[in-house]
Amino acid sequence: MMQHYSLKKVGQMERFHRANFINCLTGFKSPVLIGTVNTKGEENLAIFNNLVHLGADPALIGFINRPREAAPHTLANIEATGVYTINHITASFIHQAHQTSAKYPEGVSEFERTGLTPEKIGDCAAPFVAESPVKFSLVLKEVIPIQFNNTYFVIGAITEIYLNSALVEEDGCLDLQKADIVASMGLTDYYAVNKIAKLPYARP
Ligand SMILES: Cc1cc2nc3c(=O)[nH]c(=O)nc-3n(C[C@H](O)[C@H](O)[C@H](O)COP(=O)(O)O)c2cc1C
Repeated sequence: MMQHYSLKKVGQMERFHRANFINCLTGFKSPVLIGTVNTKGEENLAIFNNLVHLGADPALIGFINRPREAAPHTLANIEATGVYTINHITASFIHQAHQTSAKYPEGVSEFERTGLTPEKIGDCAAPFVAESPVKFSLVLKEVIPIQFNNTYFVIGAITEIYLNSALVEEDGCLDLQKADIVASMGLTDYYAVNKIAKLPYARP
């Protein structure tokens, strides 16, 4: 039965219950692992799913970072070095990917703690995830602080892209399902995806 959840009612929910409830309202997301290094070259890896396509030319991607107290390392490393990698997650390593969200101290590598493999490609200072079949590097363009709740919108330009060309469809779309890449919702749930249509560009 359709129920009305007033904001008052939502406010009375237990804190974590409310966080999950609200976080799921924006629906399915693509979870990714963001790989960075600090100025000492120490690696960091963390899972993020608030990712948006900002434009194709130039190729820009944005993501939302929590307040610094809650998620300090990725943002600080990106600001310090200007580079990062984004790596898609397959069903085969969701447990390790999820574990990167744990609050490890600075200088502790989530690669080491989770068993995921850091991969250096070309002259990119930031590590890629070897297990990931679709990954790319970015350079920082802008960090926009959102004053209302102390979060940050981090904007980067894509520099290099690595993926199996068999995933590229005739029209340029990527068949991420073929690579077993997962979707996520909120902070706890992961989904296998199933394409139901490819529709042509709509005209009036
Ligand atoms: C599925 C999932 C999605 C997440 N998405 C985000 C996100 O979009 N932005 C964010 O700041 N934190 C997100 N987190 C939390 C970060 O992974 C967590 O705060 C992590 O410790 C940040 O690490 P860092 O301090 O090394 O950057 C997510 C966690 C999970 C489990």
